[in-house]
Amino acid sequence: MYATPLAVGIDQIGFYTSNFYLDLAVLAQRNGIDVSKYHHGIGQEKMSVPAHDEDIVTLAANAADSIIDDAERENISAVFFATETGIDQSKAAGVYVHRLLGLNSNCRVVELKQACYSCTAALQMACALVARNPKKSVLVIASDVARYELDSAAEATQGCGAVAMIIKANPRILQIQPQAGNYTEDVMDFWRPNYRKTALVDGKFSTQMYIKAMLAAWDNYQADGGFAFADIAHFCYHLPFTRMGQKAHRSLCQHNMASIPKDAFDTQLADSLIYSRIIGNSYSASLFIGLTSLLEQNTNDLTGKNIGFLSYGSGCVAEFFAGTVVAGYKDKLHTKKHEAMLHAREPLSHTQYVDLWNYPDPQEGEEVTMQMGTTGKFKLARIYEHKRDYLRV
Ligand code: CAA
Repeated sequence: MYATPLAVGIDQIGFYTSNFYLDLAVLAQRNGIDVSKYHHGIGQEKMSVPAHDEDIVTLAANAADSIIDDAERENISAVFFATETGIDQSKAAGVYVHRLLGLNSNCRVVELKQACYSCTAALQMACALVARNPKKSVLVIASDVARYELDSAAEATQGCGAVAMIIKANPRILQIQPQAGNYTEDVMDFWRPNYRKTALVDGKFSTQMYIKAMLAAWDNYQADGGFAFADIAHFCYHLPFTRMGQKAHRSLCQHNMASIPKDAFDTQLADSLIYSRIIGNSYSASLFIGLTSLLEQNTNDLTGKNIGFLSYGSGCVAEFFAGTVVAGYKDKLHTKKHEAMLHAREPLSHTQYVDLWNYPDPQEGEEVTMQMGTTGKFKLARIYEHKRDYLRV
C-alpha cells in the first residue's frame, strides 16, 4: 500500500525529430520488397533520418526548447538525459543541453542508459525527487538515433527523435501513479558494443523477449496494486515499429482473458501509434512520443482516464506503470507545432539517404558544414581539440 501521495507527473511534453525522412515505399522499391510488408507487416510508413550536423544533443535541445519558459528555467533542479546513442563515454549529453537552454547552474545533470527503457527510469526518479521537494521541477529528456545496417532486415525500423518532459507537483497533463511492475533478465536480444555504430540484433528473439518481459512486468504491476486491465482506457507501448505495439497489446488482452472487439482494441491503442508510424524507432523516446501522439491526436476529452505504459529496453528491462490524465491538459499540448514540424519534413531519395547514412561521424578539427543540414534551432558546428561545439542557430 502507498500513502496518499502528492500528485506528481508530466506538466509539459514536447518532441522533435529530424527534418529529413525516407519514405519506406522508396526503400521497398529499391529492395524489391512488397511495400505492404512495411505498411502492414511492421506498421511503418516513413523513418526520420538525422542530418549530419544533428545528434542526440541537438534533437534533445529542440524538443526541450519549446516547453521551457523563463520561470521554469530557474526552477529546474535536475536534468535526466536518457539515451542509448551516447556521444561521449564520460560527459553527459545533458550538460550541453543545460547550456543551450540557459538553465540555472544550481542543477544536477546526469545521463541514464538501459537501451530503450532508460527514460522510464528517469521519469520515476524525477517523480521521486519532486515528491521530496515539490517546489522544484525536473527536466526529463530521451533522445536517440536508431541505426541498423543497410540491407539488413532491421533497416526499415530505423528512425530518430527526442522527447522532453517537465516533471512537477500538481502536474497539468498526466499524474503518474506510484504503482509499478518491473522485470529484468540478462539476455542478448539487441546490443551495441562501443566499437560499433550500428546495433546488433537477434530480431525474432527480441520480439519474443519484449512480450515475455511485458507480461512479467504486468504481473508484477498487478501484485503492486496497479489498475485492473478494465480500468485502463488507453495503452502506450515502446514502439520499435508500430506493429510491435499491436502484437504486445493483443498478448496483454489474451493474458487478461479480455476478448476485445476490433473497434475497442483500436480505441485503446491506435492514436498512440500515429506519430511513430511516420518517425520510426526513436528508442528511449518512442514510448513518450506515443503518449504525445495519443494526447494530441485523440479527439475525445481524456480527462480522468487512466493510461497504461509498457516500457521495454533490450538486454533486458521492462516496466509497466500508469498515469491519469489531468483536467485542462489540452491547453498544455503543442499539437499544431508538432504537426507542422512533421509536415515540413523533406523526403530523401534513396541515394541521399545512403549518402547521409554513410557520411562519417564528425572528426577532430572538422567544421560541420553540409548542404543537407538540420533546419532545427540547434546544430553541431564543429569539433575542435576533441570538443563538440554546439550552436543555437
Ligand atoms: N504484406 C504484409 N505483411 C507481410 C508481408 C506482406 N507482403 N511480407 C511479410 N509480412 C509480415 C510477416 O508475415 C511478419 O508478420 P508477423 O510478425 O505477424 O509474422 C512481418 O511482416 C515481418 O516480416 P518477417 O517476419 O519476415 O520479419 P523481418 O525479417 O522483416 O524482420 C524484425 C522484422 C525482426 C522486426 C526486424 O525488422 C528487426 O530485427 N528489427 C529490429 C529489432 C526490433 O525492432 N525488435 C523489436 C523488439 S526489441 C525492442 O523493442 C528494442 C528496440 O527498440 C530495438
